[in-house]
Amino acid sequence: MCGIFGAVSSTHVQDSLIKGLSKLEYRGYDSAGISLITKTKKIKRLRCVGKVKNLKSLVSKSKSSGVCGIAHTRWATHGKPILKNSHPHNSDEVSIVHNGIIENSDDLKIFLKKKKFKFTSDTDSEVIAHLFSYYSKKSSDSISTMKAVAQKLQGSFAIAAICERWPDKLIAACNGSPLLVGAKKGSNFISSDIHALSESTNKYVPLADNEIVEIDSDNYQIYNFTGKKISRKTSSTKKQTKIVSKGEYNHFMQKEIYEQQEIISNAIKHQIGKKGLLPNIFGPNSDKLLLKTKHIHFVACGTSYNAALIAKYWIEEITDIVCTAEIASEYRYRTVNVPSGTLFVAISQSGETADTIYSLKKAKNRNYCSILSICNVPESSITRLSDLVYLTHAGPEISVASTKAFTSQLIALLFMTMVLSRTSKNKAIEQTILKQVKSLPAIIKKTFLLEKEIKKIAKNFKNKKHTLFLGRGVSYPIALEAALKLKEITYIHAEGYAAGELKHGPLALVDKNLPVIGLMPDNNLVNQVLSNLAEVRARQGLVYIFTNKKLSGSKVDKTNVINMPSCGHFVSPLVYVIPMQLLSYFVAIEKKTNIDQPRNLAKSVTVE
Ligand code: F6R
Repeated sequence: MCGIFGAVSSTHVQDSLIKGLSKLEYRGYDSAGISLITKTKKIKRLRCVGKVKNLKSLVSKSKSSGVCGIAHTRWATHGKPILKNSHPHNSDEVSIVHNGIIENSDDLKIFLKKKKFKFTSDTDSEVIAHLFSYYSKKSSDSISTMKAVAQKLQGSFAIAAICERWPDKLIAACNGSPLLVGAKKGSNFISSDIHALSESTNKYVPLADNEIVEIDSDNYQIYNFTGKKISRKTSSTKKQTKIVSKGEYNHFMQKEIYEQQEIISNAIKHQIGKKGLLPNIFGPNSDKLLLKTKHIHFVACGTSYNAALIAKYWIEEITDIVCTAEIASEYRYRTVNVPSGTLFVAISQSGETADTIYSLKKAKNRNYCSILSICNVPESSITRLSDLVYLTHAGPEISVASTKAFTSQLIALLFMTMVLSRTSKNKAIEQTILKQVKSLPAIIKKTFLLEKEIKKIAKNFKNKKHTLFLGRGVSYPIALEAALKLKEITYIHAEGYAAGELKHGPLALVDKNLPVIGLMPDNNLVNQVLSNLAEVRARQGLVYIFTNKKLSGSKVDKTNVINMPSCGHFVSPLVYVIPMQLLSYFVAIEKKTNIDQPRNLAKSVTVE
């Protein structure tokens, strides 16, 4: 799971490679590397473990330069994050970078070892360098070399290669892993995503699966894997990338938590008019389509999947529409039944998550009535592949742990619920939700006032090994999301459970050392949640309750009750997730972890 950037220009490219790579670091930050064809037409490779800033200082110290080069930032899949496994990988006269997984790398290694190629890394990617070298000696040009290489590979890949035999050209190919060409007078580029191009050009052409591109400083030409030329016009990005800084905050995560009030206010301002929700906010004719929809298949990963689970609760509560929410890595490989009138909805912050992209591609070949994506990144792979797009406009989310993207997805899904509610017999329900949505910014502001209290509680978690989060109904996915946040940035093992499920097994874990957090908005499930928490307390578990219910009676120990601002039923997930984000953040502060870039993770998961 990595980022690729490459450039060929009439001037030196090393600086633009480093700039492009810095923008791709969200895909992984285990190691970084660069290969250039120098003045003497020889390959010069520089690699380092860790972040792009380490590579930047290596490149400037070495004073290496060239007009044709490739660069890579790595998230380790095959082989540890150590120098020998860092990209680019070299073979005789060749240097390559790769994103994806080569499923038949073991077989190819046997073939290449017989041809006397020596392997120096533990990666699957190195086979590509040797294959390219092998076929380059048998071919007269770079296209037929790459064609021969691509035909040997099984799995997903985006590859960029340079070769001393063709020192002014960069050759790239992709299948199942995104790659774009960036075009500018006197320079052409290759990149895993559109942001990395933004420093260099606003003109781009996406490659489709099974395509090869050959680039020099003046031209690029796309071919398919059979060698046929493909002509495709360039598009222009509308997006101006602003430099994002932490401002007054200590971490991006903290800043992004606090941005949520404004993002929700903006969503309300832009999507709600005097008479209510504006028409067709999910794309042309989307209202009509939604009102005809009989089933919805939500597909997503991680935090975005938790948003999908909440949408299922909302929509099924007030309409007859049957919803499923499914993890993309499951959806993509299983047999899926698609009844007529089913809408496919992909939810993704980045729009580059490999499992979600594959699921979406699978869905495009089934009889869905439409493919809608809810996404934060315009012109991402997922938005380009969708029939309809709702952009969440949360702004760049830099912290690996997702916060504002989640609430911006929830507000979009609540808007969708409002449109779908028009099929319900309860004609007042849309207005009820609307009223609750409008009240959200003020409630979220009040929720932030809990910061001091949460900071204090966070100290109690510093030495804990495990934590349980419990919720029922729409609060159950919030319990899942709270556990995900705590795991990601504090490395404390945490689980989210439907509160009623506790007694079916996890109750065995409860003792005086286990914190159990109950998420209990004031709704029809309060008594059930209280009973579940009483079961925990009876076994000496450390119970914390986040609630806006005024508690009284024997079931309640009021010592660890965090009084939440009151809020409507539909918006409670957006309100209750905020103290959970803050709790994880402050526990991470106590534990001094790397909050914005937790170990082993990357912002965008671009491999399966
Ligand atoms: C958790 C987190 C991940 C992502 C998941 C999907 O904080 O960030 O679980 O939610 O990798 O990513 P997107 O939404 O970009 O498809």
